[in-house]
Amino acid sequence: MAGHLAVEDVLRPDRLRIELLDNPIIKIEDVTKIYKLGNIEVVALNNVSFTINRGEIISIMGPSGSGKSTLMNILGCLDITSAGNYYLEGLNVSAMKDNQLAEIRNKKVGFVFQTYNLLPRSTAWSNVELPLLYSNASNIKLKVSTALSQVGLTDRAHHKPTELSGGQQQRVGIARALVKNPSILLADEPTGNLDSESGNEIMKIIQNLNRETGLTVIIVTHETSIAKYTDRIISVLDGSIVSDIRQKAATVTT
Ligand SMILES: Nc1ncnc2c1ncn2[C@@H]1O[C@H](COP(=O)(O)OP(=O)(O)OP(=O)(O)O)[C@@H](O)[C@H]1O
Ligand SMILES: [Mg+2]
Repeated sequence: MAGHLAVEDVLRPDRLRIELLDNPIIKIEDVTKIYKLGNIEVVALNNVSFTINRGEIISIMGPSGSGKSTLMNILGCLDITSAGNYYLEGLNVSAMKDNQLAEIRNKKVGFVFQTYNLLPRSTAWSNVELPLLYSNASNIKLKVSTALSQVGLTDRAHHKPTELSGGQQQRVGIARALVKNPSILLADEPTGNLDSESGNEIMKIIQNLNRETGLTVIIVTHETSIAKYTDRIISVLDGSIVSDIRQKAATVTT
C-alpha cells in the first residue's frame, strides 16, 4: 500500500506498480446468481470465486449466455448475489441494502456500454457532466474538461452524439465513466459496435488509463484481438470459471 512505502520507493514507479498489483480491490467468494422466472430457475453464475488486484486490466470471455453480463452487474453493484460474498475495496457489498448499493455504485464504479447510452440531444460536454450534476460535485468544469481531454475529445466537447463517429461516441462514454474518478471501470463489450480500427483506439485509451493512472479495468469481450491487450483473461462457461490466465498484455498501437 502506498502509505507503507518509503520515499525512495515512491520515486520508483516500477515498485509502486508491484505494490498496487498486490492489493486486492475485488474479492468474489463462492458467488451464485439464480434468476427465477415463474417456476423456472436459471443458474447464471455457479459458485464463482476470484480476486482482482488494484491496477489490473482483465478481460472476461465466454459464449453467449455464459454469465458474463450477470457477473459484470454484480461487480458493478447493479445486482446482488443469490449466495456468496462480494467484497469491493474491503466492503461486503453482498450484505448491502438497495440504497447502500446505489451509493457504492455511484462512488466506486464507472460503466462503459456497448451501445454508448448517451443522451442524443446533449453535447459531449453535457453527457460527461451529467453524473456530476446528480452528486453535488465541486470543480465541475475542471473535472469535465479533464475527462474529455483524457479521451482526446477536447475539440469535440460541443458536438452532439449524431455529430460524432461511433468511436468518438464511445470515447464520450468513457469520459462519462471517468468523471467521478471511480475505483473500477467496467466495460461490457465496449468495442462490440465498432470496426477494428475504432475498437483499437478505444482499447488504446483504456490501456493508457490503466497504465498511467493504475485504474482497475474489467472488459467483457468476444474478441481475442481485444483480450490480448489485457493482463489476464477469465473465461466463463455455463456460469463457471473454466480458466483464468495471466499474460503479458500486448501494447495497443494504432
Ligand atoms: N434478468 C434475467 N432474468 C432471467 N434470466 C436471465 C436474466 N439475465 C440473464 N439471464 C440468463 O442468465 C444466463 C446468463 O446471461 P448473461 O446475460 O449473463 O450472459 P452473457 O454471457 O452476458 O451473454 P451475451 O454474450 O449474449 O451477452 C443466460 O442463460 C440468460 O438467459
Ligand atoms: Mg452479455
